[in-house]
Amino acid sequence: MPLWSVTGGNELTGSLAVQGSKNAVLPILAASVVGGGVSRITDCPLLRDVDASLEILRFLGCGVMQNRGEILIQSDGMSRNHIPHALMLKMRSSVMYLGAILARCGEVRLSAPGGCELGSRPIDLHLKALAALGAEISEAGGEVCCRAAQLKGAHINLDFPSVGATENVMLAACAAEGTTVLTNAAREPEIVDLQSFLNAKGASIRGAGTSEIRIDGFAPVPYTEHSVLPDRIAAATYLCAAAAAGGDIRLTHAVPEHLETVLSALRQMGCAIVVDADGIRLRRFGPMRAGRPVITRPYPGFPTDAQALLMAASLRAEGTNVFVENIFESRFRHVPELRRFGADVRVEGRVAMVCGVKTLYGAPVTATDLRGGAAMVLAGLSAEGETQVFDSGHIERGYERFDECLRALGADVKRLEDPQG
Ligand code: UD1
Repeated sequence: MPLWSVTGGNELTGSLAVQGSKNAVLPILAASVVGGGVSRITDCPLLRDVDASLEILRFLGCGVMQNRGEILIQSDGMSRNHIPHALMLKMRSSVMYLGAILARCGEVRLSAPGGCELGSRPIDLHLKALAALGAEISEAGGEVCCRAAQLKGAHINLDFPSVGATENVMLAACAAEGTTVLTNAAREPEIVDLQSFLNAKGASIRGAGTSEIRIDGFAPVPYTEHSVLPDRIAAATYLCAAAAAGGDIRLTHAVPEHLETVLSALRQMGCAIVVDADGIRLRRFGPMRAGRPVITRPYPGFPTDAQALLMAASLRAEGTNVFVENIFESRFRHVPELRRFGADVRVEGRVAMVCGVKTLYGAPVTATDLRGGAAMVLAGLSAEGETQVFDSGHIERGYERFDECLRALGADVKRLEDPQG
């Protein structure tokens, strides 16, 4: 595992182009098997989760070529319909292959994702929706198997607007006979990107970005090109980094409309933010202050993935900031680590209260998960002295060249190999 060394005190200045979206590219890679053919995907971020997904595609028998941010997938030769546990373990969101392989092969077998760093991560909504499309579902030996001679379009209402379940329904319903109408669907921008990709592959899908999505079948085309949308959570990370450290940064290749709740929270906390045709500029020279409570909700609400990041930026704000986590049951695992900097954060159930302190002190801390790990780096940027972030391999699951990008903005950040392994 790499180890990160962060020395606080430098303000961040300069301009940065935001990477392509992790949460958009992962379902798109899975979708590349639907209907076969060749897919050329550009603006792909170079991430460990992307590597894990490409490994799955190769295992399935697809041809994969990668040249920096461009990936070519030839899925006509796909010869397997199951994913071994070792490959599933490398990336939690491989559950997206459930709908994709089912659509392609009429049968899929993969190991069920168990608990993880954000608490239990059930897939009951995915399975219920696939069963509504006519899939026969069985579970044995830790594996889930879905089978259908012919999937049938259906009206499916999700009990909760799950991102992954919405994506799995879109993928599977491509192979269904008749129309599928999905209500209470998740509305995330990444779902709109998946719709664009699937439509370019020959699907007929409308409504992504709203709560009702209609899938009207699929007429596969042999070649598809798609450019992945910019990563709103990576953008939020760099904005929170500049808020934490102070300074003046500009982000290009960012979509401000996807970041409205994050920008609004940062403005309330004292950052000056200007959005123009070239991107987003954030300046923070005075002290941060308390804003309205930050409550995570499904999109277009405040993203759970940005909760730890904004919390890290708020540790030295004047007054008390309140965070309410509504999406995941155990998403405050970064809090005990933030306390090591001298931060005053208290948690009660789903609520965390941050009472701003004057000074943070660099400390040895652990990356508890992807965004929690990035939050440690952000806190380190606004702390006195050196911070060491252990287990920072988590960070590389979701950020492309995070250390280089932060250094380009003037941060003192180094990625080292942990001598203890
Ligand atoms: C996706 C994102 C993740 C983000 C999350 C919420 C990807 C690759 N990952 O994850 O970064 O934090 O959306 O915005 O896009 N749930 C169930 N049963 C199910 C499915 C979900 O109870 O069958 C629960 C989950 O435990 C969780 C909540 O619903 O509490 C939201 O999960 P979901 O929207 O499905 O998140 P993911 O798709 O896993």
